[in-house]
Amino acid sequence: MIFSRVIGTGSIVPGAPVSNDDLVARGVETSDAWVSERTGIRFRHLADKGVSTSDLATEAARRALEAAGLRPADIDLVIVATTTPDMVFPSTACLVQSALGVPAGAPAFDVQAVCSGFVYALTIADKFLRSGSHKRALIIGAETLSRILDWSDRSTCVLFGDGAGAVVLEAGDTPGILASALHADGTQHGILSVPSHPEGGSLVGCPFIRMDGQAVFKFAVRVLADVAREVLEQAALPLEQLDWLLPHQANVRILQGTAKRLGLSEENVIVTVDRHGNTSAASVPLALDVAVREGRILPGQTVLLEGVGGGFTWGAVLLRI
Ligand code: ACO
Repeated sequence: MIFSRVIGTGSIVPGAPVSNDDLVARGVETSDAWVSERTGIRFRHLADKGVSTSDLATEAARRALEAAGLRPADIDLVIVATTTPDMVFPSTACLVQSALGVPAGAPAFDVQAVCSGFVYALTIADKFLRSGSHKRALIIGAETLSRILDWSDRSTCVLFGDGAGAVVLEAGDTPGILASALHADGTQHGILSVPSHPEGGSLVGCPFIRMDGQAVFKFAVRVLADVAREVLEQAALPLEQLDWLLPHQANVRILQGTAKRLGLSEENVIVTVDRHGNTSAASVPLALDVAVREGRILPGQTVLLEGVGGGFTWGAVLLRI
């Protein structure tokens, strides 16, 4: 039987941390107290003009390859999860393939599931590897979300940041990914969106994130708890044997609410939203890499990755590191 396993992680955030007070200094009508109390966010990173999503994705992938002790030539599948691609096309994954020097001929494509994108991409890659068609995949979540923020809308602009995270997934005999589940409910497309498209040389509609914060909050806590139970049940792993819950880093209160609903101690939840804000598709692999490199997530431990985002989409991947 073929399994897939994460054998290396990498990440990058652009530039220096930008604090809540820095946003106030830049003219956003908010306060450190409001943002940190309601969301737990203290810092985020914002890409300078000229830094693209594919630049961040390529660097995160390079670091994941280094951690895995592999070269770009060893990779035969590239998937990038992003909502902020460099271009309408070609895909960011093709740009990364070229920048890294992953051999031509390997499939490379983007996945668009907003903040669930990485969990979607990892699940897709797991299925490729388990089928025996591919051996080593680069799965990347990367965003320059600051490009789609309306800096005059304080209810959204304080929440998000830029960054990228990546994993190398390898096929082999040892189980790594133990279970996964993906879901979507398109009837909820209106509660979180960037409702615009290019047409005739300009953008039609609003090019910024629009969100019903309270509706998103309630939806996220419910589905994150449900999908966690679903994958634990699939793998027949009792909650007590789960070492880490690593949910999409949107808001510390969503993470606390999910842990509470599951009956899991907050000590078992990986939190990095305080330093990165919500980096959408990058948030899960970024938090994973930070926790691995800080020695919190250790080899042999079980980790439950969870995504939730626009669409609405959600999903989870349970893995042994
Ligand atoms: N600074 C100061 N005041 C603010 C700010 C701000 N940045 N933003 C809103 N306010 C004000 C509002 O104007 C309002 O003032 P009013 O009472 O005078 O009208 C007041 O704060 C309360 O606004 P609400 O929107 O009701 O605040 P709420 O308690 O719902 O918190 C928040 C808003 C933090 C966005 C919350 O709804 C939330 O966390 N939602 C989840 C959304 C989320 O995390 N989205 C991420 C993307 S989705 C995803 O990744 C899954």
